[in-house]
Amino acid sequence: MSNPARPPAAGALAERPPLTFPPGFLWGAATAAYQIEGAATEDGRAPSIWDTFSHTPGRTVAGHTGDVACDHYHRLDSDVALMAELGLKSYRFSVSWPRVQPGGSGPANAAGLDFYRRLVDELLSHGIEPWLTLYHWDLPQPLEDAGGWPARDTAARFADYTTLVADALGDRVRYWTTLNEPWCSAFLGYGSGVHAPGRSDGADAVRAGHHLMLGHGLGVQALRAARPTSEVGVTVNLYPVTPASDAPGDVDAARRIDGLANRFFLDPLLRGAYPADLTADLAGVTDFGHVRDGDLATISSPLDLVGINYYSRHVVAAPVPGEQPEAYWRAPSCWPGSEDVRFVTRGVPVTDMNWEIDAPGLTETLRRVHEEYTDLPLYVTENGSAFVDTVVDGEVDDVDRLAYFDAHLRASHEAIEAGVPLRGYFAWSLMDNFEWAWGYTKRFGMIHVDYDSQVRIPKSSARWYAEVIRRNGLAAQ
Ligand code: FCB
Repeated sequence: MSNPARPPAAGALAERPPLTFPPGFLWGAATAAYQIEGAATEDGRAPSIWDTFSHTPGRTVAGHTGDVACDHYHRLDSDVALMAELGLKSYRFSVSWPRVQPGGSGPANAAGLDFYRRLVDELLSHGIEPWLTLYHWDLPQPLEDAGGWPARDTAARFADYTTLVADALGDRVRYWTTLNEPWCSAFLGYGSGVHAPGRSDGADAVRAGHHLMLGHGLGVQALRAARPTSEVGVTVNLYPVTPASDAPGDVDAARRIDGLANRFFLDPLLRGAYPADLTADLAGVTDFGHVRDGDLATISSPLDLVGINYYSRHVVAAPVPGEQPEAYWRAPSCWPGSEDVRFVTRGVPVTDMNWEIDAPGLTETLRRVHEEYTDLPLYVTENGSAFVDTVVDGEVDDVDRLAYFDAHLRASHEAIEAGVPLRGYFAWSLMDNFEWAWGYTKRFGMIHVDYDSQVRIPKSSARWYAEVIRRNGLAAQ
């Protein structure tokens, strides 16, 4: 970066020792196609569920859409140059399914694939390892019209799409993530409906979760067939779930939410079975008749790595009659069969999303996955925070975001010291972008984006992160 790393404001960080990460640690930043690309109707791209949803009145804050977003589609070269200035070792991006296969099945769109070829080549020419996510929530609209993720056929379509992308890009992309956060796709998309496609039916959400994982398993097999040397994984969003007290009702609430948020995905993917207590909790919602023989073997196809997105912790308690439900991921409709569990606000500092800041929860989450589920290499594929930023004299001094990254990197290091094979960390996000139902009102970027002019300004956190990467660790504070 042109400016040297600036020390954080006095008092923002407590005194801390320097920390060094293992050699070869993969320092990265992440984005997703619909959140940054724009060019929604260009070069043959067709609508996804997020185009339809964001264009439906009342679905996103102020009616914001991803039509233009960060205009990354037209700014690929300068955006990769910014990544190079940061010194990123890797960049995690997603491929827009409706850009490369507009109908969701059938022929590829050569122009769409060319965009990703250019992106990957540009990254490689700057020594930045491309990390490709196949599905970050933008299902082609024709597949939603045919039933969406609650329909089994969508999993097969995902496998075909995977083959198409692997054939086009597999010669130059080593790291692959099938799905990003299937919990959000299933339970926000089909449960509460605050995300696209905006449907609200508990049984559909559970079916969607299963078919997403089935698509993942078929996608893993398709990747192995097309590109045997690729490193293949999946990204799940995980939360430690803590009971508000030792009272049995609170402890049971935590078990239930842990089942739906974490074990619904971890157990089939890494153990080949749904947890028995979870299927019992869901008995009033579904009989799991959508699960066919062989599905769980497919879903648990061997992986090379596991990606974990971490943002916060859930603290939960037993129902209290008459208590008002809360919105977004605390909405009861996100939690089929456990709708009456209460999410407790502890009063600890929160981000602009109102998400509680809980760095030790990251250590706990990484240790849990390693100690209870797998010896596979783990990667933090997203971690970050939204804060209100102000541009002063052309600079953005985002001390809160910087402190959030610092605390979570220290938590990551603690997990490594405890024996977790954590191999990399991707900051969310490279730049401010379209934050789904919140539109452009929430800023997660290390790089500030002015959505009128498309001018990018690296924030203090970006300069700080560049220095972290350069020294492969954290300086003493
Ligand atoms: C995650 C999503 C990502 C972004 C962050 C804030 O759930 O994967 O696209 O919205 O949250």
